[in-house]
Amino acid sequence: MERKLRYAIIGAGSNAEKKHIKGYLNLPHVEMVAVCDVNFEQAKRVADKYQVSKVYSDYKEMLRNENLDIVSICTPNFLHAEISIAALQAGVNVHCEKPLAVNGNEARQILRVQEASEKALMVGLNNRFTNESVFVKQYIDQGLLGEIYQAKAGWVRRSGIPGRGTWFTNQKLSGGGVMIDLGVHYLDLVLYFMNMPSPSFIAGSTRQTFADTTTRNRNGYKGNPNGVFDVEDSAVGLLHLENGATVSFEFSWASNIEQDKFYYELIGTKGGVSFVNGELKLFSEQSGTCVDIGPKLNPNIRTLDEFQHFTECIATGKQLLAPAWHGEYFMNIVDAFYEAAGNQKPYDFNKTKVGV
Ligand SMILES: NC(=O)c1ccc[n+]([C@@H]2O[C@H](COP(=O)([O-])OP(=O)(O)OC[C@H]3O[C@@H](n4cnc5c(N)ncnc54)[C@H](O)[C@@H]3O)[C@@H](O)[C@H]2O)c1
Repeated sequence: MERKLRYAIIGAGSNAEKKHIKGYLNLPHVEMVAVCDVNFEQAKRVADKYQVSKVYSDYKEMLRNENLDIVSICTPNFLHAEISIAALQAGVNVHCEKPLAVNGNEARQILRVQEASEKALMVGLNNRFTNESVFVKQYIDQGLLGEIYQAKAGWVRRSGIPGRGTWFTNQKLSGGGVMIDLGVHYLDLVLYFMNMPSPSFIAGSTRQTFADTTTRNRNGYKGNPNGVFDVEDSAVGLLHLENGATVSFEFSWASNIEQDKFYYELIGTKGGVSFVNGELKLFSEQSGTCVDIGPKLNPNIRTLDEFQHFTECIATGKQLLAPAWHGEYFMNIVDAFYEAAGNQKPYDFNKTKVGV
């Protein structure tokens, strides 16, 4: 019988429990052997809940002792680079939560180490693994949208600040505000659908409007009214791509709108796709008339599982759906966006290309 993959978690907080532990415990060929959190009590609580005997507060000690095959990194963003690099150098495959790092520079450092190692790193971009995303990607790859020349992406909340004074609202710990938190999901998704095209220039704006209010927190997130809040709570922008297409985007943790909305739209020469609050629609032309198509995906069948996919790629060398270089590509766009917003003028990606 083949041995099970030895798995551990680093950062046993909310996302670790809701997503990674649940995902890996579903796989019969994986055993969770250790839990690490800088807060030992938290690590112990989670370890006890899932009957895991090894508990650590120091990830380096865990990497030295446990002969691991996979770690999930679910710490605040500023630790993603340091821990990913240490794990790869210790010979462990890494499933790192999004964003890959707090900026392009750190993401590049991770990428260099990953490429020099024989290990895999996958970014936890779970929205790429939904049934809708898998279907849309296939639909696009079959050429059914033609050339996608315009895309829109957004996630806007009425009251969804993850708590003043948590690591989310602290630039040093998070790398940024809503752009890093929610933008990573939906802007990433449309760029992934468009096959990670080269960016040409980006314009954008960030705002901090609700930092001093206590009434616009996300359900379940408390925070500390005296804590740090030095990031944006809304971000809007327009990205031009070298192929001539554009992507407009808007993200907000809080805003005076009727209701929360997460969405993307892809508009192509042969067809279009809209995904709004979970509902997918396709637009096309048949027999000389415009038609709307409402795919009925079976929610009881999971087409692609993020965790199964990662273990399969590790075993077979198959291409990852969310490899390290995609995380680095995206962080370069985030850096450029923040620079454009800070300078209040568009950022030209050609300036940063060697020889231009
Ligand atoms: N993919 C998604 O949909 C999704 C959703 C939520 C969060 N996330 C990402 O997951 C990560 C964690 O977010 P969260 O909401 O779980 O945060 P959280 O604050 O609930 O958990 C973070 C945990 O990391 C621990 N930690 C801090 N420093 C550590 C260290 N040096 N070593 C070990 N543990 C350490 C903290 O004690 C805490 O328990 C973030 O990168 C976030 O962007 C992704």
